[in-house]
Amino acid sequence: MSAFDNQSLQAIRGAFLDFVDDPFYISESESVRYIPDGLLIIENGAIVDFGSYSDLQKQYSHVPVTAYPAQLITPGFIDTHVHYSQYEVIASYGEQLLEWLSKYVFPTEGKFKDKAHADKIATLFFDELLKQGTTTALVFATVHPESVDAFFEEASRRNLRMISGKVLMDRNAPDYLTDSPENAYEDSKKLIQKWHKNGRLLYAVTPRFAPTSTPEQLHTAAKLLQEFPDVYMQTHISENKKEVAWVAELFPESQGYLDVYDRAGLVGEKSVFAHGVHLTDAEFKRLSAAKSAIAFCPTSNLFLGSGLFKLAQAKSTEHPVKVGLGTDVGGGTSFSMLQTANEAYKVAQLQGDSLSAFKALFLATLGGAKALSLDDKIGNFNPGKEADFIVLDPKATTLMATRNQGAAAQTLEELAQKLFGLMMLGDDRAIQAVYIAGKLAHQLAPV
Ligand code: GUN
Ligand code: ZN
Repeated sequence: MSAFDNQSLQAIRGAFLDFVDDPFYISESESVRYIPDGLLIIENGAIVDFGSYSDLQKQYSHVPVTAYPAQLITPGFIDTHVHYSQYEVIASYGEQLLEWLSKYVFPTEGKFKDKAHADKIATLFFDELLKQGTTTALVFATVHPESVDAFFEEASRRNLRMISGKVLMDRNAPDYLTDSPENAYEDSKKLIQKWHKNGRLLYAVTPRFAPTSTPEQLHTAAKLLQEFPDVYMQTHISENKKEVAWVAELFPESQGYLDVYDRAGLVGEKSVFAHGVHLTDAEFKRLSAAKSAIAFCPTSNLFLGSGLFKLAQAKSTEHPVKVGLGTDVGGGTSFSMLQTANEAYKVAQLQGDSLSAFKALFLATLGGAKALSLDDKIGNFNPGKEADFIVLDPKATTLMATRNQGAAAQTLEELAQKLFGLMMLGDDRAIQAVYIAGKLAHQLAPV
């Protein structure tokens, strides 16, 4: 390769950690890829080569290198469930799901009729996501098409791989937030045509949850999925016991909560269901067979008192379900995927399970990519993938530096200990740099 060819290439050197397989099913020694001194070669926003520095340095000796000698480089975090429209309502006191929605969430979402407001919050949301190292997310907008435009316009300006859609609600919500089956269909269709596969953007048909859609509207959502088979479907399911009982009342003919979505034709490979705290054994099996995904949202499930998600059951070998981590802000209390992993660990602990640091990081990276059917594009450092990655500082604070003493880990055991400390103690202060399609998009200001 000539020096001229190398001018469009760039290299990142440091300790790299990613996954080549799922550590819930394949031993960590085979699924974790750790290269203590590695080199990542990027061209036009994509990874073109990846390996140890000693193996690759000769071949790429003319490529400019950015080195991170004391950090840990991982794929960007993937948040599989979050509401950008709830940025302002995070940490609202004292209620559980249904009352919390009426008291805090619906009035806040009402403001997104105003495009200028939606623009402002979209900017704040993406600033926050990048600061936290989240490079891809599956996101609820609001019922207003303006909210979707604001979201995708800002994501497009930043060249982010993002998925979102207009919320569908035609009952059991305030008038200012409801649509109808007809305009839900027309508005969603226009938005799909405008935004789906526009650059890195993708569309998700978004019925909020069964209680706020008539059966007719759920069928409308399914009609959109038939017309546009590669768009996503996102909704909520079985988060809270009162909600589950309400769904049984509203849909007496259904066999259960998931069956409401199934009868409408909304349970497929590109369906992502948030929460699933109270799913039955039969529902887990059905999700496994349908290859649908669950967004596990621990900070939200604890904050809203919803319950403990059965991660071990979801990741069983007999009926495996794809699982990603979600912040679910504003039900969730942090945009940080490190803090989300921290709470996921505790949710597992309360059920007698230990979620290892590697498994938790898998859920936040390649696991999330698999849940979103994006593992051919993002989620690890395989050549051909988009170069969205983050630089973590395991010694970001005095406390973390004391907890994570010593040189970079050389073995997986040492790394597991450091990574666990990073997840329990880390947040945006540990996200030193964020690269989007190979370009530096956020850098922590030196203190
Ligand atoms: N169920 C229906 N809507 C919502 C929402 O906005 N947040 C959460 N956590 N659950 C929901
Ligand atoms: Zn949610």
